[in-house]
Amino acid sequence: MNLDHIREQIPTSKKYVYLNHAACAPLPTPVVNAQKQYLETRALEAETAFDSWLEHAEKTRKVVADFIHASPEEIAFLKNTSEGINVVANMLDYQKGDNVVTTDLEFPSNYMPWFYLQRKGVEFRMIKNKNGKLLLEDYEKAIDDNTKCVAVSHVEFATGFKNDLQALAELCTDHNAYFFVDPIQSLGALNLDVRKTHVDFFSSGCYKWLLSELGISIFYIRKELIHQFTPPVIGWFSLKDYENYENFDRGDPEIASTARKFECGNLNFYGIYTLHASLTFLNQASHIEERVMNLSNYLIDNVAQKGYTVQTPQEHAGIVNFKVKNPGKTVKTLQKDNIIVSSRAQGIRVSAHFWNTTEELDVLLKAL
Ligand SMILES: Cc1ncc(COP(=O)(O)O)c(C=O)c1O
Repeated sequence: MNLDHIREQIPTSKKYVYLNHAACAPLPTPVVNAQKQYLETRALEAETAFDSWLEHAEKTRKVVADFIHASPEEIAFLKNTSEGINVVANMLDYQKGDNVVTTDLEFPSNYMPWFYLQRKGVEFRMIKNKNGKLLLEDYEKAIDDNTKCVAVSHVEFATGFKNDLQALAELCTDHNAYFFVDPIQSLGALNLDVRKTHVDFFSSGCYKWLLSELGISIFYIRKELIHQFTPPVIGWFSLKDYENYENFDRGDPEIASTARKFECGNLNFYGIYTLHASLTFLNQASHIEERVMNLSNYLIDNVAQKGYTVQTPQEHAGIVNFKVKNPGKTVKTLQKDNIIVSSRAQGIRVSAHFWNTTEELDVLLKAL
């Protein structure tokens, strides 16, 4: 991989030391070019291009599936992470005495849909972190044979704690519980193999580590589960033969037998063109996970040496968080120096992607 060539294709790299992928990623030039191309066609061709958009959606579904080691029938395009979490939380079949398990480190979207199930009589269990870590022994205590679903982030958004998906998947299997993962803080930075880790469902927006757009998300459902669930939101795109929508069977409409049944209406084709280009861009790079981990470890070592308290636990991925006195003010001061980070958990959250460099982290370290 030629890093200089990669960086030339990321215009932000010339303007900022951009270390904020956990918030919203910049778009590479080929991705913006794909967006422009779509918009040109959208403007000029309108409906006459519709079939080509559908074809491109199927092409993209295959690229997405390959990216996470799934098959295309297991992928649906929704609009954001939150929507997919709501789909799962609301379609599971809850019996009296059932519980759901999540954690106190989740983003609100992976908390609220589960929390609100209490209205349906479902018991809500929240695992509390210990010094920023979610311990396997606490998951073991919380999960039992009445657990319907365990819902966690792969990487927790504020401090970067990384859950051990393999261990949690095994725990879920032991108790016959579904396993839902929100991988928005890892997908594009870490390798995720849904077959190996036996994830049942996931939902991920694309605007962070995937270097893609807002308003488009990937929803994954394991093949064996597709036929077991009726989508809580349904419409003409869910029909098996949706192109023949005028003649659908009003007695018993047949819905798609793939994850496509979760796509209730027209897709975000703009987002899909963007996602295809983003994945193509990421696929030309190599050692992404290794680079992300090296950069985060480099930063952890160096901020610790400077005397800052690092809030990121040892089990972590791309996100690094360290305490400062006034994080909000520090973020603004750094931005004046063209260094872009976020403030989270009363600290500074830094999220460097594979295309960032140790030299850029040195610029941040010097500015602190
Ligand atoms: C872990 C996590 N989940 C979900 C979200 C929200 O995602 P979306 O806007 O795609 O619903 C965020 C946003 O920062 C996040 O960090």
